[in-house]
Amino acid sequence: MGKLAITGGEPLRKKPFTEWPLGGKEELKALEDVLTSTKWGGQPFPGKHASAFAKRFAEVHTVKYAQCVSTGTVAIQAALRAIGIQPGDEVIAPAYTWEGTVGPVLLLNAVPVFVDIDPDTYCLDARLIEKAITPKTKAILPVHLGMRFADMDEILRIAAKHKVRVIEDCAHAHGGMWKGKGAGSMGDLGAFSFQSSKLITCGEGGAVITNNLEYMEKVQSYINAGRASVTDQYRHRIIGFNYRLGEFQAAVLGAQIDRLAEQSKTRAENMSYLETRLKGTPAIGLLKPDPRITRLAPYGYVLKYFANQAKGVHRASFVAALQLEGIPCDGLFYEPVYKSSLFPVNPADFPALTWGREKPLDLRNMYCCPESEKAGYHEAVWFMHQIFLGTKKDVDAIADAIHKVLENIDELSDLDHKAIRNQRLSRAERES
Ligand SMILES: Cc1ncc(COP(=O)(O)O)c(C=O)c1O
Repeated sequence: MGKLAITGGEPLRKKPFTEWPLGGKEELKALEDVLTSTKWGGQPFPGKHASAFAKRFAEVHTVKYAQCVSTGTVAIQAALRAIGIQPGDEVIAPAYTWEGTVGPVLLLNAVPVFVDIDPDTYCLDARLIEKAITPKTKAILPVHLGMRFADMDEILRIAAKHKVRVIEDCAHAHGGMWKGKGAGSMGDLGAFSFQSSKLITCGEGGAVITNNLEYMEKVQSYINAGRASVTDQYRHRIIGFNYRLGEFQAAVLGAQIDRLAEQSKTRAENMSYLETRLKGTPAIGLLKPDPRITRLAPYGYVLKYFANQAKGVHRASFVAALQLEGIPCDGLFYEPVYKSSLFPVNPADFPALTWGREKPLDLRNMYCCPESEKAGYHEAVWFMHQIFLGTKKDVDAIADAIHKVLENIDELSDLDHKAIRNQRLSRAERES
C-alpha cells in the first residue's frame, strides 16, 4: 500500500467541490414566469426572455446585437451562413478544440483547414495562419480556448490584409475581455454555447453576437425558418431552419448572467492563488499570462504537465492519481480534431472535399500539428471552472494534491489501474 490514493493511501480531499450548473430561486422565478404564460417557445420571435437576455448579453460583450440560438454548434453554423460561406470555401480553425468548432464548416460543405496552436496559450497560433491562406480561404475561426484568447490583434491584421472574415468561437469565453473589448466583438461575429458545462448555461443553448446589422438579420432569418428578421432592413430571403431557443432556456440564462461577473472574479482570484502555489514546480508549466486579456473568462484552468520532469510517468497516470486524491480534472479533454473518433469524415458526405481534386482531401491523415498533439496527448491538464468557485481551502486542496502526487510519483511507475486506462481513452470512448 502506497501513500497515494491510487495505490491504496488516504485520498487528500474527501469533500466534493462546487457542482455545476448552479441554479437558484432566480431561475425558478423566471421559469415560473414562462410556465404561467402561454409563450413557451421561441415564437413569436424573439421571445420576451430571449430578447431581454440577448440585450444584456450584447452589452456584456460590447456589441450592438445578440441573438439566442439552440446550441453553440448552431451559433457557429449561423455565423458562417451570415458571412455567406459557400460550398468549397476554406475556413481556418485550430486543430486543438472541440469537434463542434469545425462540424458546422463541413455541414455547409465548406472545408476546414487545421492550423496548430500556440504552446503559450493553446489557442490558434496566429504566426501560422498566413501559410494556410489560399484563394479559397473565406474565414478564420479562432477559439478562445480554456482560459486564454487567441491573438486577436494579429488575427484581425491578417484577416484585413487577406480580406477574409473572422468568426470567434467563444464557447469558453463568456464575459471575457481583450483590451477592454468583449469576447466575440472583435471579429465579424462571435459564437457562444450555453451547454451545461459552460460559464453561463441553460442546459443547451447558444448565441451569436455582432456589430453588423446585416449579419444579424441573416442570423435571425436562418435560425427562424427563413422568416424576415426583426429589423429586415436588408430584406434577405434565405432558406432557414428552426434553431430558435425556447423561452424556458432563455429565462434561465437571464438569471445566470446576473451571477457571471461575481463568479468570474472568484474564479480569477482562486486561479491566481493556485498559480502562486504551483510556481517553481518543475513538472508543472503555466500558460503564459497575456496583459491584453483585461477580463479573464476561464472555462477551464489549464496547466501543462511535463512527464520528463516526473520520472517519465505519463500524464494519464498523473491525472488518474489526482482524480483519486479527490480532485476532478482531465487530461485527454480535447485532442487534435483530425485524430478524434468524433471526426469520422466520409468524403461521400462532404462533396467539397473532392471538388477539383483527383482524390478527396483526407482530413484525418493529411495534418500533423505537433503542438496540438503534445497538448492533447501528453501535456494539458484541465480543471473545470466550478472547482474555483469555492474557498481558498479548495484551491489549497488542488495544489496539495498536485504536490502529493509529484512527491510520490515513483508509485505511479508501471502502475496499472482502471482510472489510468480510462484516462488514456478520449472522452467519447470512456465509460463515464
Ligand atoms: C470550443 C467549443 N466550440 C463549440 C462548441 C459547441 O457548443 P454546443 O455544445 O453548445 O453545440 C463547444 C461546446 O462544447 C465548444 O467547447
